[in-house]
Amino acid sequence: MYSDKVMDHFRKPRNAGVIENPDAVGEVGNPACGDVMKIYLKINKDEIINEIKFQTFGCASAIACSSMVTELAINKHIDVAEKISRKDIADALDGLPAPKMHCSNLGADALQEAIKNYRSSKQS
Ligand code: FES
Repeated sequence: MYSDKVMDHFRKPRNAGVIENPDAVGEVGNPACGDVMKIYLKINKDEIINEIKFQTFGCASAIACSSMVTELAINKHIDVAEKISRKDIADALDGLPAPKMHCSNLGADALQEAIKNYRSSKQS
């Protein structure tokens, strides 16, 4: 039912963990199931994400989606990274079973939340 890529990212998540002194943090919960994801970013002076880590308390799909979103966002400008969609994440994992599509929301939403928090911290 799960693609090989989902199983690979679930078993060996990329960029799992915490960044000390991050430039931005985004945290979201999935109202459909109560699972939670937190994403940490280091952003350089050119606004490129040069480090990204995640903590996810969720299902296998949520962990695979979290891992994949970090791979899609690393070394990207924040303007590009914030456009990564739920579909981009699911497609990069060779699809998710239909009942698990909502799990990809966590990755995209947490990244967007972190970038939004980064922008608002720069304005203040
Ligand atoms: Fe909660 Fe997948 S069941 S994110």
